[in-house]
Amino acid sequence: MKTGEDMLGWLRTRRSVRAFRPEPVGREVLERVMQAATTAPSNTNRQPWRFTVVTSANQRRAIATAVRERAEEMKEIIRRGHHAEDFGNYGDFFHEPLESAAAIVVPQYREYPDLIANLLESGGANPKDFHTASAMQAELCSTSAACMTLLLQAHAEGLGACWMAGPMIGKDRISALLDLREPWRMVGAIALGWPAEAPQVQPRKGLDRVVTWFEDAPGEDTP
Ligand SMILES: Cc1cc2nc3c(=O)[nH]c(=O)nc-3n(C[C@H](O)[C@H](O)[C@H](O)COP(=O)(O)O)c2cc1C
Repeated sequence: MKTGEDMLGWLRTRRSVRAFRPEPVGREVLERVMQAATTAPSNTNRQPWRFTVVTSANQRRAIATAVRERAEEMKEIIRRGHHAEDFGNYGDFFHEPLESAAAIVVPQYREYPDLIANLLESGGANPKDFHTASAMQAELCSTSAACMTLLLQAHAEGLGACWMAGPMIGKDRISALLDLREPWRMVGAIALGWPAEAPQVQPRKGLDRVVTWFEDAPGEDTP
């Protein structure tokens, strides 16, 4: 990566990949991907994350089945309502990438006591008045940052990946299968594997819609 422009160009080549070839992903590659996740910044460097990496075929199948069955259950319920068509094939969105993934990574985060909030409270303040780290779910943010670096390393390795909220519908069964317990909280699942598709670019909102600037006018100086 030579320049900022090169980097931006490369970032734009990442896609969410939902279909994978059957070849396994070697442990060495997976370890690099997980190492990359742990390079992410985190609130007071607490590194409030944990990752369960599933390559076992039986476990992968069990996870995909748990999510697919739950999506089917949801479909049945929605069919009874007035918006059956709205769901359409949307159910696939919950489990499809898990079906052919060579590895499924289940990221988790845990919350830590908000020390500054506790100090404020001991001094007689209502910590809610100060919007400390817990007001922004700092541990969840940190773990999301780790997921993003994981996705980028996967992309650099030539892997396809899809971070998914869908598998949350199977959280209870996935937690039992993988022995995930409190205080750890699942943050979806990431399907990984050698890509069997080249998805289209998904459009992005222009900066004019998502960025607000406060700048000095030309020639104006800050005091
Ligand atoms: C938190 C999060 C949850 C997502 N959940 C799903 C999901 O459940 N199923 C799925 O197929 N894609 C899921 N995606 C992928 C998005 O659909 C995808 O990122 C978006 O359409 C933009 O496409 P791109 O990643 O190829 O640029 C999710 C992405 C994120 C960041």
